[in-house]
Amino acid sequence: MKFKIKNICCIGAGYVGGPSMAVIAKNCPDLEVNVVDINEERINKWNEKNLDKLPIYEPGLKEIIDQCRGVNLHFSSDVKRHIANADMIFISVNTPTKTKGLGAGQASDLKWVDSSAREISKYAKGQTIVVEKSTLPVKTAQTIKTILEESIIDSKHDSQNNLKFYVLSNPEFLAEGTAINDLENPDRVLIGGEDNQSIEALVDIYKNWIPEKKIITTNLWSSELSKLIANAFLAQRISSINSISALCESTGADISEVKLAIGSDKRIGDKFLNSGPGFGGSCFKKDISNLIYISNHYGLKEVSDYWQKVIEINEWQTKRITKLIVEKLFNTISFKKISVLGFSFKANTNDTRESPAIKICNDLLEESCKISIYDPKVHPKQIEDCLNLKQSKIFSKNICGEWTFSNSVIEASQNADAIVITTEWDEFRYIDWEKVHKDMRKPAWLFDTRSIVDVDLVNKAGINFWSIGRG
Ligand code: UDX
Ligand code: UDX
Repeated sequence: MKFKIKNICCIGAGYVGGPSMAVIAKNCPDLEVNVVDINEERINKWNEKNLDKLPIYEPGLKEIIDQCRGVNLHFSSDVKRHIANADMIFISVNTPTKTKGLGAGQASDLKWVDSSAREISKYAKGQTIVVEKSTLPVKTAQTIKTILEESIIDSKHDSQNNLKFYVLSNPEFLAEGTAINDLENPDRVLIGGEDNQSIEALVDIYKNWIPEKKIITTNLWSSELSKLIANAFLAQRISSINSISALCESTGADISEVKLAIGSDKRIGDKFLNSGPGFGGSCFKKDISNLIYISNHYGLKEVSDYWQKVIEINEWQTKRITKLIVEKLFNTISFKKISVLGFSFKANTNDTRESPAIKICNDLLEESCKISIYDPKVHPKQIEDCLNLKQSKIFSKNICGEWTFSNSVIEASQNADAIVITTEWDEFRYIDWEKVHKDMRKPAWLFDTRSIVDVDLVNKAGINFWSIGRG
């Protein structure tokens, strides 16, 4: 039997669910796509008339929303109705690391996946394909299947009594900031499943805009594991280059030259070799922690120790930045003003989850300095939540460790003793350093943790300069 998919529902209108469904709706005009979320406020934002107020900033996203919303793409908090009408349901809910209980600090918290499966089992009708989109520990599909299958046994809501579920794994490889391009032109699409019909139904959707040779089909467990491993390998590459950045600083080598030299080897490749303040984002740390947890679970201590080091190097890299700033500023930054440029975990997103800027700001605040933060897309309220500290409207003479939000680079840098670039926003590449330097307190310092500024221009402006990985 061939499935005829007409109606799709996605549970979770977040960074993954929103953009993924928008791109499906755009490329499959015959499909009805409903994105649901228990968070009504988030849904209201997705339905905002003013497209600059969407809950997520992604280049190219608002144009697609403009084109498809209200046509074949809808955002709603009526979870029950849209589950009942759907032929295919994507689970795109968040799966953070557990903060307490068994596996705290390592295992993924699956409570939202569990509750989504229960909602589906309560309201779905007929033959329904359930697709895991969230990154999940290996074998989660089994949990979902068990919950769904148990519901068939005592199903009362499906009057036709032909309830049947198929579970697929279809992890998302999009990176934030380039999500739309990654979804439109992915390197590959991965679909894991147990039966050909449901796999084919999902392949048919992607075939609308993706060449078939890029669609990889595997069994469920390979698909689930591959997503974790892809993220672990990417993160490991960053820890590797970051560890070498410190060695460059100590030896007089230059990380950008080392990157060029090693990246020219096709076997190594030149992507994902930018040394920085440590990786952030919702995935890398969580997924490696999960890998560590799974390895320990299967008694593979050496494997778990190996991946643990990737996280340790990452934390060390972030920590050493504040240490360095304090050292350069005569071993005290107490009551000095530091301008922090960038708060999102990478450029072109307003996402701040696990952003290295949070840790750097917290470390700086511990040293009793004043921080002015500027980010082109992150709202001050979000920064308050991340730092767990309200912003001061103006700096006071006797409070140590406070922060304020600035509306521009120039404003943030006035009277500052140092500037720290924490996110690689394009506008920070083109700062007029001579102009900025005039209003800074002297001796003025610039710490470029992303290696994005033109060294000659900074030197010409007379600012003392430190850049990651430059000996
Ligand atoms: C993603 C992935 O799906 C996850 O696997 C990955 O590892 C982290 O990133 P993301 O889209 O970034 O999740 O998460 P988030 O932006 O927090 O969105 C999840 C949404 O699901 C939230 O809006 C939340 O309200 C919603 N949700 C959660 C539900 O609608 N129902 C629930 O039961 C739980
Ligand atoms: C990542 C994966 O790339 C994506 O495939 C997966 O679906 C989700 O997790 P994301 O976290 O959105 O995507 O962004 P990514 O571009 O991978 O960056 C993660 C972190 O690594 C950022 O903090 C970024 O600044 C940092 N990074 C990335 C570096 O420090 N150096 C690099 O060379 C690349």
